[in-house]
Amino acid sequence: MCIIKKGDYKMAYKALYRTYRPSTFEEVAGQQHIVKTIKNALATGKIAHAYLFAGPRGTGKTTMAKLVAKALNCEHGIGCQCNECKNCQAINDGTHPDVLEIDAASNNGVDEIRDLIDKVKYGTILGRYKVYIIDEVHMMTPGAFNALLKTLEEPPEHVIFILATTEPHKILPTILSRCQRYDFSKVSDEDIRERIKVILEKENITYNEDAISLVISLADGGMRDALSILDQVLAYSGDKLNVKDVLDIFALESNEEKIALIESIIHGDVNDVLNRLSSYIERGTDIKRLTNDLLLMLKDVLIYGTSGNTKYLQILKEDDVRDLADEIDNKKAMEMITILMETLKDYKNVTAINPLFEVTLLKLASIHNQPTIRPSVIKEEPKVEEKVEKEPVFERKIEEKPIAKPIIQPEPVVEEEPEEDQLSLFEDDSVAHDDTVLYIKDTEVDDHYEIDDKTMVNIMVTSKKDIKNSLLENWKNLKRLAAHPKLGKTASMLIDGRPLVVSSKAMILEYQSDSVVEKMNLIKNQKDIQNVIRTVFGKKMFVFAVNRKGSISCQQTYMNLLQLGRLPKADTVNIEFVGD
Ligand SMILES: Nc1ncnc2c1ncn2[C@@H]1O[C@H](COP(=O)(O)OP(=O)(O)OP(=O)(O)O)[C@@H](O)[C@H]1O
Ligand SMILES: [Mg+2]
Ligand SMILES: [Zn+2]
Repeated sequence: MCIIKKGDYKMAYKALYRTYRPSTFEEVAGQQHIVKTIKNALATGKIAHAYLFAGPRGTGKTTMAKLVAKALNCEHGIGCQCNECKNCQAINDGTHPDVLEIDAASNNGVDEIRDLIDKVKYGTILGRYKVYIIDEVHMMTPGAFNALLKTLEEPPEHVIFILATTEPHKILPTILSRCQRYDFSKVSDEDIRERIKVILEKENITYNEDAISLVISLADGGMRDALSILDQVLAYSGDKLNVKDVLDIFALESNEEKIALIESIIHGDVNDVLNRLSSYIERGTDIKRLTNDLLLMLKDVLIYGTSGNTKYLQILKEDDVRDLADEIDNKKAMEMITILMETLKDYKNVTAINPLFEVTLLKLASIHNQPTIRPSVIKEEPKVEEKVEKEPVFERKIEEKPIAKPIIQPEPVVEEEPEEDQLSLFEDDSVAHDDTVLYIKDTEVDDHYEIDDKTMVNIMVTSKKDIKNSLLENWKNLKRLAAHPKLGKTASMLIDGRPLVVSSKAMILEYQSDSVVEKMNLIKNQKDIQNVIRTVFGKKMFVFAVNRKGSISCQQTYMNLLQLGRLPKADTVNIEFVGD
């Protein structure tokens, strides 16, 4: 038989932040101006009757209130915190009859609070002072507020109020004016580090400085948060604190990965950027955090770029910041920071943040695809070839272009248009070549169509919102043809597409599946597709399909041209069908 004695129970786990609430003023991390002023007041007997502790969560307001209560009641004299006398111990345990903690957020009962406040007139039981600690005081009901106000006007000698709040602006001016106010600030990284180390050493945990830095960056100045984060990591990793575990638990990317992402962005390597994004999404990376981290890294680049000094760096190591600053000038760093700041703001207004992040990455990459204008170069060599060399995205596109036959060729002589000349389509004179002919023949050599960038852009600039909307509204009507013996398959394929761009003569549909994209673009299917569109919408329209990547690339091209001021004007673009 097994008898379990009471003392044999493994003690219930107590969170680090509760175990390590500072028990003396000396243990408080940061807030030194407050500690010093209060210690002085206690030493000189200039004790106020009401204090207001305002500041962010988990930065030591309640802690400090309890320390003040102890310093007022310790049996060894005012200002002491022996933590051994009856008063100190009872305050530490939360059982002292003269130190009353009221949580206005959970204790909304007016009567209860009023009752407590009513008792101020009675003398103390154990200590010298009755201390009322009212947490989240801005949450008090108006009735309770009034009761408090009356007492604050004429407090008895032996009563001290300590009000704490994260939202001081919500407190009535009549209350504010009766309190001595202390504003707690976020705890500095260095102070958090020092405190964390004390705790890790007491707990016999081996650690690595970089892992502590990560915890600090997650805590964002909150000491309680830092300790909770530490708790979570240690629950997973045991008695070691290392970088990998912190990254895994909080779904973070390493600094190396973030730097690699920035490198791809500044090299305009959109494919690599998008591949990286897919793996973040797969791993469940905290995208908001990643956005913020990129911002902080670029801030480091900007700080280094403007000051030439590495001592103000927040995240990046010296070598890394130097490498990045070599490639990102201050103006571009500033532009990138602005885009990331906007994105962080916009996250608050969207339900799905991944697509927003995706667009942000593309925007960032597009900054680096703009030709750098150097006045000397412009003066000496204002030639078209110069510009071409500086547009890596377009260059790469051409290398990667499949050899499939373009369906759309600039007029007038289709056969003679050289393939490698496509870059010139985006040169300043592009307006002159804007007529676009959708060239459809049964006798194409390849079996499927491939659309080129220029045509994409032409369809985009001539797109019409109202046509697209009316098409979208009636999209479900395609279902009617789903059972059609000849056109059913095609109609079903169309239903799955998402109209991306719709002009009066052509439409680009986006599909998730590559195999459907391939089928849609088969030359032999175009007739049926047009038949279905004509039957259901009464329009003659060429339909072209792209996958997600194609859709992004097409939007990217559009944005690049827009930023370069080289988009063709809609009224100069003429799209014609040929050959059907
Ligand atoms: N300045 C600090 N120095 C040392 N530890 C701190 C400090 N601030 C917070 N802590 C740790 O966090 C825990 C919670 O702190 P505390 O209750 O004082 O925060 P608070 O400012 O009152 O937060 P809230 O606004 O959420 O009430 C403490 O028990 C302690 O472990
Ligand atoms: Mg508190
Ligand atoms: Zn004591």
